[in-house]
Amino acid sequence: MYLNKYPLPCNFRFLENMTFRRSKNEATLANRRASIRVQILGDDLLRVTLMRARAPRRNYSEAGLRRAAPRSCGFSAEKGCIRMAAGDMEITLDPATGAFACARDGHMVLRSAPSPFGVCGPKTVLLIERPEDAVVYGLGEKTGGLDKSAQKFKMWNVDVWADLPGIMTRDDYDPSYVSIPFVISKWKDSYYGIYLDNPFATFFHTGHRETPGALIASGDPGAPLAIGAEEGLFDCYLIPGPTLADVARRFARLTGTHEQPPAWALGYHQCRWGYASAKEIADVARRLARARIPVGALWMDIDYMDGFRVFTFHPERFSPEERERCFASIRKRGTRLVTIIDPGVKVEKKFPVYREGLREDVFCKTPEKTLFHGYVWPGKTVFPDFTLERTREFWARHVADHLREGIDGIWNDMNDPSCGSSDPMDMSFEGGKTGHAAYHNQYGHLMARATWEGFQRHDPNHRPFILTRSGCTGTQKYAAVWTGDNVSSEAHLAMSIPMSINLALSGISFNGADIGGFAHDTTEDLFIAWTQAGMLFPFARNHSAFHTRPQEPYAFSTRALDIFRKCVNTRCKLLPYLYTQFALHRRDGDAVMRPLAYEFPGEQYERIGDQYLIGPSLMVAPFVDVSSATRDVVLPPGWWFSLQTGRWVRGGRTIRVRRTEAMIVFVRDGSILPCLDGADFYPQPDFRRMSLHVFSKSAAAAGELYEDDRETRDYQRGVCNWVRAEASDGKTGLHLRLERGPSGYSQGVTSFRVYYHGLHPRPAEKTSIAWPFGNHAGHVETLALPFA
Ligand code: GLC
Repeated sequence: MYLNKYPLPCNFRFLENMTFRRSKNEATLANRRASIRVQILGDDLLRVTLMRARAPRRNYSEAGLRRAAPRSCGFSAEKGCIRMAAGDMEITLDPATGAFACARDGHMVLRSAPSPFGVCGPKTVLLIERPEDAVVYGLGEKTGGLDKSAQKFKMWNVDVWADLPGIMTRDDYDPSYVSIPFVISKWKDSYYGIYLDNPFATFFHTGHRETPGALIASGDPGAPLAIGAEEGLFDCYLIPGPTLADVARRFARLTGTHEQPPAWALGYHQCRWGYASAKEIADVARRLARARIPVGALWMDIDYMDGFRVFTFHPERFSPEERERCFASIRKRGTRLVTIIDPGVKVEKKFPVYREGLREDVFCKTPEKTLFHGYVWPGKTVFPDFTLERTREFWARHVADHLREGIDGIWNDMNDPSCGSSDPMDMSFEGGKTGHAAYHNQYGHLMARATWEGFQRHDPNHRPFILTRSGCTGTQKYAAVWTGDNVSSEAHLAMSIPMSINLALSGISFNGADIGGFAHDTTEDLFIAWTQAGMLFPFARNHSAFHTRPQEPYAFSTRALDIFRKCVNTRCKLLPYLYTQFALHRRDGDAVMRPLAYEFPGEQYERIGDQYLIGPSLMVAPFVDVSSATRDVVLPPGWWFSLQTGRWVRGGRTIRVRRTEAMIVFVRDGSILPCLDGADFYPQPDFRRMSLHVFSKSAAAAGELYEDDRETRDYQRGVCNWVRAEASDGKTGLHLRLERGPSGYSQGVTSFRVYYHGLHPRPAEKTSIAWPFGNHAGHVETLALPFA
């Protein structure tokens, strides 16, 4: 597999002279080389499948799509074209070339190039016409800026550090650890998405032109969007918007959402490669406690194992007695424990996991049906073949036993799969029957699934928490993702924002980058900047590599620690809002972290990659460099409340803000944020102390709160509450209406403190309101809170 070469459309033969056939619910075009099938699956979903003649029809995708059966369509002919319509969707097809245009509600959504379907040996490609200035989003986990236009991308999971040596410090490497062949672009004013449900290596050209002799292509904004697969079935789904939010939501409905994370997993995570004993971890916990930092979880990297043997603990440094003593002291403060689990199993006759795996025949084979070997942390290793059910059962059994040791969450790493100097192409699947390429990009996904099944086996009512490095489409159903081995540099801090946003638009909302940077030594200023920038990402973990300088928040000056503490406390304060955003993600499919254009249509907002939104109401505009004293912030129209200054700012313009010790966060006018009350959340945030912050400058305000027990899966059986709050400003006071749906969860919050940030330039009102519980019907409370 060449990582730096891309199939170019100029080498493809484009289909022509095809014959047209139709049935009740599909159109088919075919010639000697290939056939194309078009189906309408709903008012917002179209499926187009390109099949090479005599090629296998099996789709190896494990994305687990949820899609409806094709609709029955009306067909008509017009000016040499076929018109196919069902519900709001209409497709116009050129029966000879397959060129098509798609309209929804009578508005054109997207149009293919004149001869759009190409083949080149096992490869296939589709060309979509792309207006010059159309922004491009999505593409899963990619480096670079927010707008992905005029570039080339490959979808092939790699261990960036090992597979792209010397390049990982750049902010434009490709490919990466996660492959999601999903692209979002625009036709005129409406967005659309195209998902290629093909797990093999795939490629995307987002409008670039090759420069003769140059290694790196230069941009040609007018060139078509090329979506291609190196092999396998070309099975693609087209999602008309019109808004960016519509596309993201529809894609989430197709590919699934995260489960509700346990609340602790939304807390602050402390990790480091090199914590060498249970004592050392307890010591980290003690020092964080002394610094009054509320910690969601402490993480154990590979050093906890015995010689890097998976599912073991080092017999001395992590002996049962040491673990019991140290872990108890950590748990006392409510902090959870997460361990790393890599796929590689040490080849060693006396190692029980290896022996058992051999007996049960669960490891990957070569095409010659011998065991496939690689070299990872433990030395010579074999790799579980997660495509087999028996392997997933074997793995799940071990995961369940491991969780029983008092572990709360699992971190799946090296599942790209990283095999050292061994060529992964020699690793085959399904017991040696299926070549590597069909499952390469799905290895991490299937590993996360097997780990998830381990959580079920351990306790089906326990919410799993899994973090994975590699993944593909649909991985969010099993795991959160972090963006792999970054470096402590301003460039990687800046890159983390667009990378996480595009990953969220591609279905994986629960994601984040290593705060402070993983490789190389961070500096105090960079650490502070990264903390201020990253502490409101959906996943917030400080992690650093072996041999780098200590990067725990207490390893810097008192000033840095104070800033850090404030940021963590801000995150904790906002936890009910963040938690609710995850519930909304499950309910509606919304991305938790989003670009400005998600909420504010307009070209002027489309390419802003150094600001981000969490949910609809919070906008973060961090300093992504360490030296500037000021930065410009683009404020979309309306009023914004600055948490930094405590003042309202008029939007619809760019303002300059000064660097201070506070995070640069703005709240959108018209929002009601459910928060925790107070300012210091050590040792753990207390969800019984709830407040509602009403931000109402010129608009009536509204917001939602979702509650459940934050730990179990009972919420899936209705043990949860939704509260909708609406507020409007009267002359003499604030009118607040709270409506709670049926209260499935009877331990919900029973009183709120209300804080008003509005037109009246006086201190926020503080009023407690009582909220009765116990009834299972809905409940409405209306209140008039007089202004002081
Ligand atoms: C990989 C992971 C990194 C981890 C290290 C040791 O590089 O990406 O996060 O610390 O392995 O396990």
